[in-house]
Amino acid sequence: MLGSLFLLWAGLLLLYFLLKTRRPKNFPPGPQPFPIFGNLLQLNLKNPIKDFEKLSKCYGKVYSIYFGGRPAVLLHGLQAVKEALMTRGVEFAGRPQGLLINHATENKGVIIVNYGPTWKEQRRFALTTLRNFGLGKLSMEERILEETSHLSSYIEKSAGQSLDPKMLFHNAFSNVICAILFGSRYKYEDQSFQSLMRMISENTKINNGRWGMIYDTIPLIRSLPLPFRKMIENRKKVKAFLLTKVAEHKETRVPGQPRDILDCYLDEIEKRGNDGSSFDDGFMVALMMDLFFAGTDTSSTTLRVGLLQLMLHPDVQARCHQEIDAVLGEREQVCYEDRHRMPYVQAVIHEVQRYGSVVPLSVFHATTQDTQVLGYSIPKGTTIIPNLSSVLYEEGKWKFPHEFNPSNFLKEEGEFVKPEAFVPFSLGPRMCLGEGLARMGLFLFLVMLLRRFQFHWPQDGGEPDLTPKFGITQEPKPYRLGVKLRGQQSG
Ligand code: HEM
Ligand SMILES: *[C@@H]1O[C@H](CO)[C@@H](O)[C@H](O)[C@H]1NC(C)=O
Repeated sequence: MLGSLFLLWAGLLLLYFLLKTRRPKNFPPGPQPFPIFGNLLQLNLKNPIKDFEKLSKCYGKVYSIYFGGRPAVLLHGLQAVKEALMTRGVEFAGRPQGLLINHATENKGVIIVNYGPTWKEQRRFALTTLRNFGLGKLSMEERILEETSHLSSYIEKSAGQSLDPKMLFHNAFSNVICAILFGSRYKYEDQSFQSLMRMISENTKINNGRWGMIYDTIPLIRSLPLPFRKMIENRKKVKAFLLTKVAEHKETRVPGQPRDILDCYLDEIEKRGNDGSSFDDGFMVALMMDLFFAGTDTSSTTLRVGLLQLMLHPDVQARCHQEIDAVLGEREQVCYEDRHRMPYVQAVIHEVQRYGSVVPLSVFHATTQDTQVLGYSIPKGTTIIPNLSSVLYEEGKWKFPHEFNPSNFLKEEGEFVKPEAFVPFSLGPRMCLGEGLARMGLFLFLVMLLRRFQFHWPQDGGEPDLTPKFGITQEPKPYRLGVKLRGQQSG
């Protein structure tokens, strides 16, 4: 009796979940989800690339999978990505809510804030401020150039040997962000800065790893002392560090004469007064963390992909050397204007971004209202995953979709050209707001390094392994960078 009651109950429960995870009407197709887990058990979570490849082959340009009870729609190829993120931009400009990352960030900042007035305000402020730092003394360009010279001097110590560029590049780009945010940089050996960096990357790992997935799928366990607690602890420490910077700035600032973004933000808080907008100390610190988080890993990983490709393609590197030498002549220092006379270097940087596809699935979006894409209906609040890699490698859009080849960005006569399918910064209202900074940084760092050094695959480097590591930012396997000083061929 008790047994059959239990069976009935279990049966009803199962039915409930089966019904719950049934696809809405005219929803994009996909594999049948299991109760509770959705399609998670059908994926190899450590490296799901192969599984996703199969799914998109099977279901086409728009398909859906279930993370637990939550459906997500994947967009594959330029047509689908463009229709959603650009043509219907606002309808696709939300962010998924109720996830670990939302809790850890208290829903502040820009990146994960849902579409609405707060996001608009914070984004507009960040964009204009970054743009205004393009001009004047202590401009973005000067701050980047200062960092490139520190980096060069540091690398020079390894001339004739090899080094692991990972932490080094990470520190260099973090310093650029620090300089723009609050006007200081840190020595590459600085211990307390290193530990901050570690906390930030630890958080990325927790969020993107198994625990983030479990937190996001199974709400019941959220109050347990599991590793995602660590994420919140880490964030508190980074916040405490930033708050010391805020306190310093409040003491030393001259209103109306900002030295950096932090000063600009303090000016903005004053200007706004009590107008009901979101500008306050909490949002300021959250924005600073977002810029850190979004700006360092992405840029430094791209540079790491770049030097790897240049080591493996000495002919491409030699052409860069030639072009840089011809344009700079006797000049020691490059400037950002020089890019117009360096179409080949520009093509190389773009090809590195294309081939590296450093943010392969963008940041997940969500629909802000009921909408559709390629004829399928998608309800409000559905998670949207734009597959940027699928556009960056799309057949028919590129001369050489599957190989590293700067000709993808060159016309016959050697002129630089940017195809429409170049979308590493995504598209539409949510598009990366640091694109300008990222491009300036990549150009100045790469040219300064190539001006001074020649890079080669070192003898102690083992066999090159080009399979990327899967993640929100996709990075190459660790490698060693062989360094030779240029212009001293005889020595
Ligand atoms: C090579 C370097 C970079 C790449 C490939 C990159 C790529 C991206 C991508 C794909 C997105 C998601 C866009 C979307 O949701 O559709 C994004 C968002 C964002 N990026 Fe970047 N990014 C880079 C560098 C930077 C830098 C240097 C900063 C600023 C310091 C930055 C700040 C942001 C912010 C704040 C967002 C969120 C925008 C929003 O939600 O409204 N990024 N980036
Ligand atoms: C995205 O597209 C790339 C290239 O087509 C493919 O290899 C990858 O598996 C896709 N990822 C997802 C999540 O669909």
